[in-house]
Amino acid sequence: MSKSSSVRQLTPPAIRARKGTEPIICLTSYTASMTKLVDPHVDLILVGDSLAMTIYGMASTVGVTIEMMIAHGRAVAKAAYHACVVVDLPFSSYEATPADAFRTAAHVMAATGCAAVKLEGGAEMAETIRFLTQRGVPVMAHIGLTPQSVNAMGGYPVRGRGEGEAAAILADAHAVAGAGAFSVVIEKTAEPLSRDITAKLDIPTIGIGASLACDGQILVLDDVVGLFTEFRPRFVRRYAETAQSIEAAVKDYAADVRARRFPGPEHTFTDTASDAKSG
Ligand code: KIV
Repeated sequence: MSKSSSVRQLTPPAIRARKGTEPIICLTSYTASMTKLVDPHVDLILVGDSLAMTIYGMASTVGVTIEMMIAHGRAVAKAAYHACVVVDLPFSSYEATPADAFRTAAHVMAATGCAAVKLEGGAEMAETIRFLTQRGVPVMAHIGLTPQSVNAMGGYPVRGRGEGEAAAILADAHAVAGAGAFSVVIEKTAEPLSRDITAKLDIPTIGIGASLACDGQILVLDDVVGLFTEFRPRFVRRYAETAQSIEAAVKDYAADVRARRFPGPEHTFTDTASDAKSG
């Protein structure tokens, strides 16, 4: 299939227009092969900076680089035909000034072909979100738990439980929506607050550990399919145990090679053309 075929790819305005209609289905993806499996079934694919942990084995998202996001963003955007593709801006690439954020976002969009970028932060990022959206960069905001601030927060706490914190996060939600974000991720946030935010904003809320009250849901693909076994956040529902299948397949392959059972005659080329059926 080519990008010019009859499949219409979802755009940021189309995602925004889904507010108040059906749930918006979002997942992360980082590679072309996974994107081909995910794309027909979801509305939005996020090339998340969670690739720090899932792909690169880092302890947090803080060390992710623009080069990493561009390499994976390009692979995903090329492979997606239906879902809206959003790429995360990595830590330290957008916070200092709106102009820095624009340069980074424009570079990421031009180099990958993604439709939008995501950045973390609430009221303090509103000016930047306005600067970007007024210059042709659709922005998905991200509030509540913001993992790029892991060092400042001292971990990954549930957000929005006390009255003061809930009021601050509600103010963040209003700030990013007012600045022009087309949607907002709410992460690991108490249900009454995410319900309140969802009721009050006119842009879709996409929850991850933020309850059924949100307009849509997002999870990390590796968690959903069980590729990542070391740690399972409470807000994840696992739909497959892929790591176990991969390990079993690799063990069988190793045993076959060790016992000289692989390759078989069907995988072997002779010196005549009689075996030229495939490959
Ligand atoms: O990086 C990420 O994967 C995210 C989540 C919202 C899924 O930001």
